[in-house]
Amino acid sequence: MTERIPLIAGNWKMNLDHLQSIALIQKLAWTLNEKGHDFKDVEVSVFPPFTALRSAQTLIDAEKFELNIGAQDISQHSVGAFTGEISGSMLAKLAVKYVLVGHSERRQYHNETDELVQQKVAACFSANLTPIICVGETQSELESHGPSAVPVRQILAALQGHESLKEFVVAYEPVWAIGTGEVATPEQAEQVAQEIRKAIQEVHGEVAEQVRILYGGSVKSVNVAGFMQGPNIDGVLVGGASLDSDEFAGIARYKKHIVL
Ligand code: 13P
Repeated sequence: MTERIPLIAGNWKMNLDHLQSIALIQKLAWTLNEKGHDFKDVEVSVFPPFTALRSAQTLIDAEKFELNIGAQDISQHSVGAFTGEISGSMLAKLAVKYVLVGHSERRQYHNETDELVQQKVAACFSANLTPIICVGETQSELESHGPSAVPVRQILAALQGHESLKEFVVAYEPVWAIGTGEVATPEQAEQVAQEIRKAIQEVHGEVAEQVRILYGGSVKSVNVAGFMQGPNIDGVLVGGASLDSDEFAGIARYKKHIVL
């Protein structure tokens, strides 16, 4: 029996220095414990800025918190003269488990292409990190191609050409819903998640059943339940609302196991 354990991921983006980050992790861990959160039922992961990863790891180790940490980006290179870049092995040393790859803000402001995203996925695989591959259409792509064409193209491009596929997660984040307060309906999100799973299945076979697909874009504690009901949605990737421990703990309370 295989099951997809839901994943609630908090992308802090460029917010919080390392002191603020550890304060938030501490508060979040306490809040989740107080609510009796079972981390085996629902995984919770936070993605602080690079500068906070070391402090976050030290705190989580010392306090034996069951939270995971993730990084917001990774270099496609493994080592060398790449000023400003952070390698997969550096992240692995900090007990980082997940890495956001191809977030729409990186695609938009740093010109990350499908090809670069594919290379970053490879960098994650070779450092034994689990990429969370972010896909999603802009408003104009939605109008010209419909909701699923761009996310499907992006995920297939990110997965092509690897020697073997290790564990990965997909985050469907319609760009028009990020930070805007506009959300996809649970039905829209489920439909695109289903198309993504189907496309992965057609090209890569049964691995598709194991892949967790998250929804992201203006998720809050008041709207998370609808998304979590979709049979193809296995969690959420949260931006703004993950900066508030009560709100984020409220999002994490949803329990949904997909037993295959
Ligand atoms: P918001 O939840 O702030 O819309 O951000 C979503 C996101 O980009 C998470 O990666």
